[in-house]
Amino acid sequence: MPTAQILLDSSRTIAPISPLLFSGFAEHMGRCVYEGMYDPASPLADERGFRMDVIQAMRDQGYAAVRYPGGNFLSGYNWLDGVGPKAERPRRRELAWQSTETNEFGTNEFIEWCREVGTAPMLAVNMGTGTIQAAADLVEYCNSPTGTYYADLRAKHGYPEPHNVKYWCVGNEMDGPWQIGHLDAHAYGAKALEAAKMMKWIDPTIETVLCGSSNDMMPTYPEWDRIALEHAWEKVDYLSIHYYAGNRDNDTTSFLASAVAFEKYVDTLEGVLRYVKALKRSEHDVYLSWDEWQVWYKGDAVEGDWAERPHLAEEIYNLEDALVVAQWLNVFLRKSNVLKIACVAQIVNIISWIHTRTDGMLLQSSYYPFKLVSNNARGNALDVLVNAPKIATKRYGDVSALDVSASHDPETGAGAVFIVNRSQTDTLETDLIWQDGAPALREVWQMAGTDPKEFNTWEEPNRLTAQQVDVPAVADGKATFALPPMSFTAILTVAA
Ligand code: AHR
Repeated sequence: MPTAQILLDSSRTIAPISPLLFSGFAEHMGRCVYEGMYDPASPLADERGFRMDVIQAMRDQGYAAVRYPGGNFLSGYNWLDGVGPKAERPRRRELAWQSTETNEFGTNEFIEWCREVGTAPMLAVNMGTGTIQAAADLVEYCNSPTGTYYADLRAKHGYPEPHNVKYWCVGNEMDGPWQIGHLDAHAYGAKALEAAKMMKWIDPTIETVLCGSSNDMMPTYPEWDRIALEHAWEKVDYLSIHYYAGNRDNDTTSFLASAVAFEKYVDTLEGVLRYVKALKRSEHDVYLSWDEWQVWYKGDAVEGDWAERPHLAEEIYNLEDALVVAQWLNVFLRKSNVLKIACVAQIVNIISWIHTRTDGMLLQSSYYPFKLVSNNARGNALDVLVNAPKIATKRYGDVSALDVSASHDPETGAGAVFIVNRSQTDTLETDLIWQDGAPALREVWQMAGTDPKEFNTWEEPNRLTAQQVDVPAVADGKATFALPPMSFTAILTVAA
């Protein structure tokens, strides 16, 4: 059996892990909001129409924040359409997804929904058709104490207390020609600066996210990021990254090495951040917000034919997709020095591992790695040494068979190691070696399979879940694991 070693030392740290790395994204697109988060027709909804089964599944996954209301939808959205008495809210032609928007669900419903989930709201302001004034007005509506027009309007709508929304995205994918009101980098950077300035004047405690490139294949990447940052640096706290991974050419070996592309993307943007900070002679830091990430290449329908809540982009997630998600989470930990926010796109139905019907919910493969990492990666990310056989890939050359991240919480002594075995054929006998003394092993969870295309169905919803497996003995600071091919393993430890 091929062998590997993973060397850990709790003092060899990368950075504290930001809890916001385990956040989500909800957009008025297809059936994410309507029939996903909110479905008054469902027996599983509460009196407000919130889908309680979805809320419980999300609580179990532990989301720190949820970004809302878009996405491309954002760039044509007038937030005033979504507040006030429901009967008076306008129905609109929604241009981004060619759908009909009823506006039954809006900002206040979202805030209430977040409180129910136990997650922080992350709102976005429209930089497409929206003005900098409307952006500032929304901050006032959400965050100001009563006594001025928009805060009083909020109170009139039934919410006298401020919502205190801390995280604000200044637009969405404004580099994309598909974006409603698309701008070039200079025009966007200048507008974003003015919007963020006004928003922070209304509430100086907020943190703002500047639109970065929509992906690393954009012809304007990474110049867009540099230019927009040069305009807005002092008034923004994060630069957004978006990326959707796929296996359109059915090259599973390369797809299972996707972390190589994810890391390269972060490394390049980290370089841009350092460059602009130096250029500006600034004391201010800007971090990365990977506020759209997911596997997306199968469910391609994205135009709704003017229907309400059309079925769009409802991906089926298989084993290989889950292993790519697990690597993404590993990258978040390994890059935690610069990555502070990450939002999976999206939380339900649209490109999501949770699918709903009126009477039930299906959890897909990749739901489980997120749940394990989100609930157990605490404290510091560790710089792990990995010695493992190489796998030859068409896209990325030779890559390690093991993709690994680890965490250690100095306050509780709890630790975790997350391992993807990318090999499609080999079990790897892997020694975990704790160089600063072995902890006790608490639990080991694993997802594995023999068919990379295996997926859960409504009829067989548990084909792919994470299972608890035997905990091996620890001796001389070492424990040995037989890691099956195409597997994700989460090893949870406590102080010895
Ligand atoms: O998440 C779906 C869409 O993907 C978002 O609306 C947009 O920002 C991205 O292109």
